[in-house]
Amino acid sequence: MAGRVVTIDGPSGAGKSTVSRRLAARLGFRYLDTGALYRAVAWSLLESGRKIDEPADVAAAITSLDLAVEPRPDEFVVMVDGKPVGVEVRTSEVSRASSRVSTMAEVRGFLLDYQRDCAEKSDIVAEGRDMGTVVFPGAGLKFWLDAAPEERARRRHLELIGRGETVTYEAVLAATRERDARDRARELAPLRPARDMIVIDATTMSADDVVEDMVSRVGQTWPELKKGLSSVN
Ligand code: DC
Repeated sequence: MAGRVVTIDGPSGAGKSTVSRRLAARLGFRYLDTGALYRAVAWSLLESGRKIDEPADVAAAITSLDLAVEPRPDEFVVMVDGKPVGVEVRTSEVSRASSRVSTMAEVRGFLLDYQRDCAEKSDIVAEGRDMGTVVFPGAGLKFWLDAAPEERARRRHLELIGRGETVTYEAVLAATRERDARDRARELAPLRPARDMIVIDATTMSADDVVEDMVSRVGQTWPELKKGLSSVN
């Protein structure tokens, strides 16, 4: 871990991606979306017609994946077969499949070095579920971003509708609750804040307010960065 690391963990729909991306831009750090790695694995397995229910099948299949994480000026980009992954990994089907494969130790272990290598290359803002606990336990600053399930479902519903999927808010809320329950109950990287994380409840906060709050914490953690971090408002 050669660079500075800020971790942002929390449930889906709490606004992690927006906030992580903006925070990284403010700090001049690279943004790392680790969910994209789990999505890329799931998408790739589905595309090649592999079964994803049995850990042994998945473990055998992932060894032949051509997966890479490449640095760009602002972020790390997840590549499969030499091409960056895009909207194809954002569908409901891939969300379900990635949630499934993320419960498997084989997959979590396989993805560990891809993630850790990123912190060797630059200062990063890493977004995920186990950034502050498993992947970067020594990170300088760790956040847990949360929001009420109704608010998270509302945002996810808008996102899916915007992408042309036909789905009701009620169905998204039910799926959100179901996924939360599964993610909290799992043995590996269960979804809950660790004691050394700063918890932010974003239910009634705008993304910009969350970022401002985080920026001030960054200034406290790394005083040498303070000068470049004056408020943009
Ligand atoms: O953040 P996301 O919705 O793109 O993540 C996709 C899935 O991968 C989700 O079910 C949670 C899982 N995930 C994980 O288990 N650990 C991470 N570090 C990131 C994502």
